[in-house]
Amino acid sequence: METFNGGFMVALHNDEVYGYIIMADDVRRLWTKALFSGFIFKVAAKALKGIYGIGPATIYKVVKNKLYYLKFEISTEKTAQLLSIAVHPSHHGKGIGKKLLEAGLKYIKYRGIKKIKLEVRPDNKSALSIYEKYGFQEVGKAKDLQGDWLIMVKEL
Ligand SMILES: CC(C)(COP(=O)(O)OP(=O)(O)OC[C@H]1O[C@@H](n2cnc3c(N)ncnc32)[C@H](O)[C@@H]1OP(=O)(O)O)[C@@H](O)C(=O)NCCC(=O)NCCS
Repeated sequence: METFNGGFMVALHNDEVYGYIIMADDVRRLWTKALFSGFIFKVAAKALKGIYGIGPATIYKVVKNKLYYLKFEISTEKTAQLLSIAVHPSHHGKGIGKKLLEAGLKYIKYRGIKKIKLEVRPDNKSALSIYEKYGFQEVGKAKDLQGDWLIMVKEL
């Protein structure tokens, strides 16, 4: 998919997928594209029509959260984002998450990007453990409908 430009990697063993990592190499470009392609407006129109089963109060909270996140996204430098990382539960704790993160960071560095950001729930101990090990530092907090998020950044 063009959006990720190769930032989607999987951990394979005997043709079985054990885990994956997804990174966007330029968050600003992703948002600009979503805005100018009309994607955001289509989603907003569907939400207002009630297609996603959420009301105006929820939409207001989602927009407010997004505006809050934007303060971490307005930057003159290109910033990558770790969008998702997961390992199959039966293979947790075997070092696969760390290997995926290492490969992801190597790819972002290879693309010449100097900064990567992510959001993680404060009680996600295993995720926090690997992020801290690889030098991510907390830069702020945000909140959404499900609870708190820690915003973490690593300079490459
Ligand atoms: C986060 C995740 C990808 C880690 O994958 P993994 O393959 O289990 O990770 P690793 O085995 O490489 O490393 C896990 C580390 O976390 C540590 N850890 C695990 N549970 C922990 C806990 N409760 N408290 C502190 N550290 C913990 C392990 O000790 C290990 O560190 P170590 O090697 O120094 O001992 C995996 O737990 C997962 O898929 N979680 C569900 C999806 C998710 O939450 N993704 C992150 C969204 S932000």
